[in-house]
Amino acid sequence: MKTKSVVVVLAALFVTPAIAQGISEGQREVIKKLMADYAAQDKAVAAKQKRNPIRAEEFSAESGKQLFLKTKNWEGEDAPSCSSCHTDDPRQKGKHAASKKPILPLAPVSNPDRFTNVAKVEKNFSTHCQEIYSRDCEPAEKGHYLAYFLSVK
Ligand code: HEC
Repeated sequence: MKTKSVVVVLAALFVTPAIAQGISEGQREVIKKLMADYAAQDKAVAAKQKRNPIRAEEFSAESGKQLFLKTKNWEGEDAPSCSSCHTDDPRQKGKHAASKKPILPLAPVSNPDRFTNVAKVEKNFSTHCQEIYSRDCEPAEKGHYLAYFLSVK
């Protein structure tokens, strides 16, 4: 009995920092797995573009943030961005630009349900990239987005 409560207290000590940080092990694993996949997929793109492939550790939160907030297309015209629906702070609740339906926060730190399912993230990425850019995002872009979402505290 006594041993059991010691175990419980120890478990609580280990669990607390994870809660304080707000990102669960599961979310971290899904994001890590996706980043590794996107780095692997970037190899083919990089070969075509004749540049060095990006390694998973090289995905940049700053680049992800720029992409997330970007409101101009490549011709310099106004264009919708991820922030049109998700706001310019992924920790905040968003609102669908067209339907006005509320969207729960995107940042893993403020929403334990995000980034818990690899297939769901992939599907959302493809759908939203299509909506905004009329093409899927490149693997490197997705990697940068993830680095950004992971960096938001
Ligand atoms: C037209 C509105 C809209 C735009 C623009 C948009 N999203 Fe979303 N996003 C949504 C909705 C709606 C959901 C799903 C809501 C839910 O699952 O609660 C969502 C969910 C997601 C998820 C799901 C994560 C998870 O595991 O649940 C990711 C990742 C995401 N969006 C990334 C992006 C990125 C990156 C961009 C910019 C390229 C973007 N979104 C632009 C509306 C949008």
